Amino acid sequence: MKLLAPSILSADFLNLSQQIKIIEDAGADLIHCDVMDGQFVPNITFGPFIISSIKKVSKLPLDVHLMIKNPENFIDVFAESGADYISVHYEEVIHLNRLINKIKDLNKKAGVVLNPSTPVSLLVNIIEYVDFVLLMSVNPGFGGQKFIDSSLRKIKELVNLREKFGLNFQIEIDGGISQENLKDVLEAGADIIVAGASIFNSNDISSTVSQFKKIISSYK
Ligand code: DX5
Ligand code: ZN
Repeated sequence: MKLLAPSILSADFLNLSQQIKIIEDAGADLIHCDVMDGQFVPNITFGPFIISSIKKVSKLPLDVHLMIKNPENFIDVFAESGADYISVHYEEVIHLNRLINKIKDLNKKAGVVLNPSTPVSLLVNIIEYVDFVLLMSVNPGFGGQKFIDSSLRKIKELVNLREKFGLNFQIEIDGGISQENLKDVLEAGADIIVAGASIFNSNDISSTVSQFKKIISSYK
């Protein structure tokens, strides 16, 4: 089943619990939480304190995307705060196999993230250990950027890799997804669709989520 993960990066943080309720009622499957430290990416967002607050107001699984230096130092605290999916950037982790195992040992779904310029081929020795791969389709750091077209090719490469090795990891796509290119990423083979600005900056968040869900659920 394909899933919709609205990114709260573009939400109204003074009304976060209401906005979360709106996306939950409209059929969102996960809540995508972008953690940024001003070091790995040129922006700062929030940390485990906000994750644990969200956990209290929503039943949806929390998909925590760590855009931080030394993520290995923070896995325990994010796991305790209520993350269900935890993803770390390939570009930042030296002992990736160890870190993926650690996330799985904490009974969380473990994902590896690739920046737009990082090739899929680099995953060949880690791919059988991950629960999901998150492909960045914008340069990480900000919401509302333009989708980078070569991401479609990377989705297809991952689909092929999954078939070749007989694996079942999920493919998540993050950045610049709107109703204009949603079908393209679904057709390429993405399983989890992250969308921030196109949902939270729309005039009617609830109906935008419903429209996304309608298209997503028409794909297997
Ligand atoms: C960017 C974040 C994304 C971002 C996507 O660094 O990882 O999750 O919120 O936002 P949109 O959908 O606005 O590109
Ligand atoms: Zn993200």
